Amino acid sequence: MATAQVKVNPEDLKQFAVGGERIPMPGILVIFGASGDLTKRKLLPALFHLEQSGLLPPNSAIVGVARRPLGDEFAADMRAGIVEFGSVAKDDPKLDGFVKRIHYYGLQFDDAAGYAGLKVELDRIATEGNIGANRHFYLATAPEYFAPIVENLGAQGMAQPAQGVVGVAIEKPFGHDLESAKELNAKVNAVFHEDQVFRIDHYLGKETVQNILVFRFANGIFEPIWNRNFIDHVQITAAETLGVEGRGPFYEKAGALRDVVQNHMMELLSFVTMEPPSSFGAQAIRREKVKAYRAIPTIPIKNAVRGQYGPGIVGGEHVIGYRDEVRVDPNSGTETFAAVRLELENWRWAGVPFYLRAGKRLKKRATEISIQFKQPPLLIFNQMAEQGPCSEIHPNLLTIRIQPDEGISLRFGAKVPSAPSMAVCPVHMDFDYSEAFGKSSANGYERLLLDAMLGDQTLFAHRDGVEVTWGLYTPILEAWAAKEPEVFPNYFAGSWGPECADHLLERDNHKWRNELGGK
Ligand code: BG6
Repeated sequence: MATAQVKVNPEDLKQFAVGGERIPMPGILVIFGASGDLTKRKLLPALFHLEQSGLLPPNSAIVGVARRPLGDEFAADMRAGIVEFGSVAKDDPKLDGFVKRIHYYGLQFDDAAGYAGLKVELDRIATEGNIGANRHFYLATAPEYFAPIVENLGAQGMAQPAQGVVGVAIEKPFGHDLESAKELNAKVNAVFHEDQVFRIDHYLGKETVQNILVFRFANGIFEPIWNRNFIDHVQITAAETLGVEGRGPFYEKAGALRDVVQNHMMELLSFVTMEPPSSFGAQAIRREKVKAYRAIPTIPIKNAVRGQYGPGIVGGEHVIGYRDEVRVDPNSGTETFAAVRLELENWRWAGVPFYLRAGKRLKKRATEISIQFKQPPLLIFNQMAEQGPCSEIHPNLLTIRIQPDEGISLRFGAKVPSAPSMAVCPVHMDFDYSEAFGKSSANGYERLLLDAMLGDQTLFAHRDGVEVTWGLYTPILEAWAAKEPEVFPNYFAGSWGPECADHLLERDNHKWRNELGGK
């Protein structure tokens, strides 16, 4: 097995783009785990959309790698996936040509000898297609294969750029605790230089997530008040109405904290809390994100709560409880809901509580960040408001709607017209993505695949970030594993989660904002 650090000049990676444009150089994209859902539902439709936008060079190829012995039916299946999940017309004029560039190679991921055959096959495809030596490996397999695949690629000399550039994109979960994440990082970095590694968090591909940075750093008026002097607290919610959708065995080992909080929610948190980077470059952005994570002190165990859904009603339909889901332990202690309260110990954020919650089978699907500002120092209208139609003055609230109704709204108080007194009522200024731009945001994978092929790591997790976030959550996971939850299930499907999550905020005299998905 290769153990040496591979030296790649980051300048070489930049040459991956054609003439400085955002079009990658020709290459082969090799997708491991190609028979899985992700490839068919997300990756191939995203690649085809890039093709439609003219962002894929014509002499490039896609090679699906999976264990099953498949032939031409793989390309046919991918074609069907592109049409179904990519909303592409069956007779799209670009589809035939694109599908011709899809190949398949059957391989047991831990069969070291099989990789020699893969190398020969890639070289053959490259020669026939005049593609050159650039290779992008995309690991969409079960996580236990990440390390063997990387090590085998290294052993065959496939990780080292010869005349081309080589990158490896790795899906989540990147480890299941701090130790396993460190081990995986060490194995990956023994073969690939960190500049070649693209750790995927699909939240970073979402337009609305990237827009947090634009909102903060392309506008002059928000940053001066983006701190402890003006912000009372921040809530980040990732609420899903879906259950585990047949992913029982995966979810049993994961749970909400590992599945969503440690990665997607921490990415959102970092974009909200990071200091202004010196540029929109990978190094600058990732450095500031890691600094924000490092400012978070150990999360006391009492500041983390968990829940599991029982049966209930979601969207008018009766649904079963988690323990009755297919291939789930009927006595399962896995959490389908997690909430934490944390703080950042730095000058910008000291004393501001951040509340994060994520859960399945909640009342409404909505991922939102709400930033509650402090009340004005003197409430001269309060008395009068009490006599009017609104009983209290609501503090300003900035809501960043990540999905599904993508947009941003700002709540402020306005005088109720014609009221005999100075009655104040909350109103909203609203920005709606689809109204403003006339189109809904693209599948995040388009951006991430393109960036990975271009060698741009800005929207990918850095090894340090992954380790710091696992470091924060591992003690909680260990404490939870050591102590069975007392009452599971503890929330009804279709509710807003367990009561213990409400208590987490009540201690600070706060309440979860449950009017999600609207203004
Ligand atoms: C995935 C988790 O990473 O993110 C899923 O494994 C979760 O359990 C999903 O449902 C949520 O993603 P999105 O884009 O629907 O918010």
